[in-house]
Amino acid sequence: MSFRRIEDAPASQTALVRVDFNVPMADGAVSDDTRLRAALPTIQALTAKGCKVALLAHFDRPKGKRVAAMSLQPIAAPLAALLGAPVAFADDCVGDAAKAAIDTLPAGGVILLENTRFHAGEETNDPALAKQIAALGDFYVNDAFSAAHRAHASTEGVAHLLPAYAGKQMERELDALEAALGNPKRPVLGIVGGAKVSTKLELLQHLIAKLDKLAIGGGMANTFLYAQGAEIGGSLAEKDMAETAREILAAAKGKCEILLPIDVVVAKEVKAHAEARICGLDDIQPDEKILDAGEKTVRKLREAMKHSHTLIWNGPLGVFELPPFDQATVLTAQAAAELVKDGKLVAVAGGGDTVAALNHAGVADDMTFVSTAGGAFLEWMEGKPLPGVEALKR
Ligand code: 3PG
Repeated sequence: MSFRRIEDAPASQTALVRVDFNVPMADGAVSDDTRLRAALPTIQALTAKGCKVALLAHFDRPKGKRVAAMSLQPIAAPLAALLGAPVAFADDCVGDAAKAAIDTLPAGGVILLENTRFHAGEETNDPALAKQIAALGDFYVNDAFSAAHRAHASTEGVAHLLPAYAGKQMERELDALEAALGNPKRPVLGIVGGAKVSTKLELLQHLIAKLDKLAIGGGMANTFLYAQGAEIGGSLAEKDMAETAREILAAAKGKCEILLPIDVVVAKEVKAHAEARICGLDDIQPDEKILDAGEKTVRKLREAMKHSHTLIWNGPLGVFELPPFDQATVLTAQAAAELVKDGKLVAVAGGGDTVAALNHAGVADDMTFVSTAGGAFLEWMEGKPLPGVEALKR
């Protein structure tokens, strides 16, 4: 893919930098600053060139209205602390006040502009809003891979109005995803977990055409087991998707080996420390629910990883929030981390609960790359073009 990179950006000008500061907040404070830290290399590279940096970001879904609780103002102080430099704040992302605030910044100064989604034109990709945004800077940088699946004014529209560059986090994400799925070292194994087949249908269809092996876990594995005739008791499953599951298995035949659980952890109650047992697929009782994959399945996954060069992982294998139903996810993640450490595996993970699951396993930092993206990672894995990325291509 060919992009302008910020190394080639002009010095001493005003950069409009789209970042993703849609971060978890608790009691008005940032509770996970991963996305703030991810933006630092780009901000620092630009300020080191004497550029003024005006940060564009959304927070939550205010639907085109000013919602005080969705202001980006509480982000400015933690960002300044991480940067070790002041971060000014403007209470609009367009208009005279924003322009005046940017004008008063010193060379190398940083300002955070208010939530782009306070304007209805952001989500409709209104050309008039994109023009107003573009009027504030000399060039545009998109460092928000995780918002690149949205064709919004600040992620897509403005990229056509100014010289546009890919930020460093954007580059890292694209490089890692290219290494995992675009042009990977084979064999490639995928692990896809999560609750429902229906939400990951396109993902599964795309992956079976791309991967050598695909392990299916979590609630959606139950649907596949049911489709193959297993008695799954009271387990979560989409029984109306059984035919679709069979179609996926048939389509994968001869192309991509599908690995389904061969044993499971079952319990009568879905709660932490519920009484649980491991059993075979032929021994699940009507009042039991599958809540995790069993030991034999984990061993099989470990073997599959050992015989792969690349792993792409999305979604937990069990109800990892409720121990002991976290074990398959934890042990598999730890095994992947070991292989990465030994230089035997490239492991890329992301989307939805995956980062939380890897953090829970204590190995998020030991993967080759963990994406900061949720929906964008999934759409990319589905093979869909991401508008924010497409708009940067040269
Ligand atoms: C995210 O948090 O995944 C991105 O910031 C996109 O947010 P959205 O789903 O509200 O568009």
